[in-house]
Amino acid sequence: MLIAQITDTHIKSPGRLSYGKVDTCLYLWQCVNHINALLPRPDVVLVTGDITDFGRQEEYVQAGLLFEQLAMPYFLIPGNHDLSDEMRVEFNDHSYMPSHGFIQYVIEDFPIRMIGLDTTVSGQPYGLMCKERLNWLEKQLMSQPNKPTLLFMHHPPFKTGIEHMDVQNCRNADALGRLVEHHPQIKYVLCGHVHRQIEVAWHGTLCAIGPSPAHAVALDLSPKGDSAFRLEPRAIKLLYWNGTDLIGHLSFIGGYEGPYPFFDNDGLLIE
Ligand SMILES: [Fe+2]
Repeated sequence: MLIAQITDTHIKSPGRLSYGKVDTCLYLWQCVNHINALLPRPDVVLVTGDITDFGRQEEYVQAGLLFEQLAMPYFLIPGNHDLSDEMRVEFNDHSYMPSHGFIQYVIEDFPIRMIGLDTTVSGQPYGLMCKERLNWLEKQLMSQPNKPTLLFMHHPPFKTGIEHMDVQNCRNADALGRLVEHHPQIKYVLCGHVHRQIEVAWHGTLCAIGPSPAHAVALDLSPKGDSAFRLEPRAIKLLYWNGTDLIGHLSFIGGYEGPYPFFDNDGLLIE
């Protein structure tokens, strides 16, 4: 099984650029084409929040038009730039999405059980796993303790070293970590929000952030580093399930040279 992640697309209305610089609609269109052309093709796409830039209805319409081009099922959770009600209006045919309350759900029909978490706090850039959401998650985990499981959420529950992002990570993360520790079926915790590939060993599992197919948060590990972005090589995260483990890969979007063979027609390593 192959899972693709698309995160932090920050879609704008047609003709508008994010922060006056980033053509996020074009970049998502290229990302969708990239995923559809992968061999083997991913079985499913997880969209881990910040779908739109300002949560406007016209931005969701634009995002919907682009995501609809995906050749495989896709599942969405919100990020801090999203507005749940507007998101529900555009994706009202996504039957897994609850009609009210937190946009959290379980995807059961794959070899990996995937649990989408809603970490958003209305009007705030930071995230939270409150008691209500933790209780819901615990119930889901207890119902299938032996099935390999992936959690996906927008705000990472750990600090990356990029301070201006760390102040808006997922709060109450220690409580989430304790819950994760008690459920060894959790193979992976997949996050967005920081627009970079980052990972850490976390409470007995792997917790990773995937890159955005648009702009990257600038890598600045100095204390009080500026809040800034760069246009770095764009990528998505792929998770390959081999029956035992989930293996994380990056797949870069764009035209790159190759593939070139290592060996010649006689099977000899090319000198
Ligand atoms: Fe974002």
